[in-house]
Formats: sequence, structure tokens, C-alpha cells
Amino acid sequence: MVLEQTKTEDRAAFDEGPLEEILDSFSAQEGAVIPILQRAQQAYGYLPEEALRMISKRTGFSLAQLYGVATFYSQFYLQRRGRHVINICDGTACHVKGAPRLVTTLEEELGIKAGETSPDYRVTLEVVYCLGSCALAPMAVIDGQVYGRLVPEKVLKLVRELD
Ligand code: FES
Repeated sequence: MVLEQTKTEDRAAFDEGPLEEILDSFSAQEGAVIPILQRAQQAYGYLPEEALRMISKRTGFSLAQLYGVATFYSQFYLQRRGRHVINICDGTACHVKGAPRLVTTLEEELGIKAGETSPDYRVTLEVVYCLGSCALAPMAVIDGQVYGRLVPEKVLKLVRELD
């Protein structure tokens, strides 16, 4: 019921303006579906169904083709994400140095599980596997910023400072 309501609100709130502009700017370029999806995602933070429907209408790609592209590339998101994205690395080096404790601490603090977004869309918590900075283990990337040698108290402080 709550989910249905949120979905309805999201649909009502969909602003076609930014996507109109994006589609206009690509109108001369046939087949530019990936850059259109990228720009749409930049504009909305993810790819809402309404956006995919509009893109389908204007480009001639079927909705199924667009979903195919959007689900194939990990850079695209079909679910609305939080304003802040926390990636905790749980690759081998980070795991050994305490990443699971960081994850548990944040799950308790935020009241969500890894992979979920808080109901107020403030934060998305994700677990990733080796970001190539093992010397900083355990590490996290919060809104694109790298933080190393984390302990639960430090990660809690960082997350509490997010608006
Ligand atoms: S295991 Fe975490 S950065 Fe490599």
C-alpha cells in the first residue's frame, strides 16, 4: 500500500522538462540511446519508467530494448536512489580488516539492509567488492569520496554529517 502510494507520487511528480531538452539535443543523432540514458540518469538520479517510455516514443527503440540496455550496464539504475550513496568495500582485504562491522553498524544506524535505500531517499547503502585501494582497507566511498582505514565510529560520524 505504502509502496503503491510512493509509486503514484513519483509518477505524479515526474517532470518531463529536462528529458524533453535532452531528447531535443539528440534529435539529429539516430541510435544515441546510451548517451540519452546517461543524460537522463544525470537529470533524474535514476531512470524512471516514465523517462524510458518517453525515450522509447522519441527514439523508436522499444521499451524492452531500453530495459535491456539499462539492465545490461551496471552504470544505470532503475530504482530511485538516495541523495547520498555509501559504498562499503567488502573485498578480501577490507573484509579481513573489519568491513562486515562497518556494514552492520550502518545497517543498524540507517535501519536498512545493504543494497537498500532509506525510505526518505536520504541514503543508499551498497556493498562493493575491491575498489582497488586495498592499502586503505577497510575503505568506503561516500558520494564519490574515498575514506580509508575506517572503524565503525568513524563511518558513523561521516554518515551522521550527511545532510
Ligand atoms: S578489498 Fe577493499 S579496496 Fe581492495
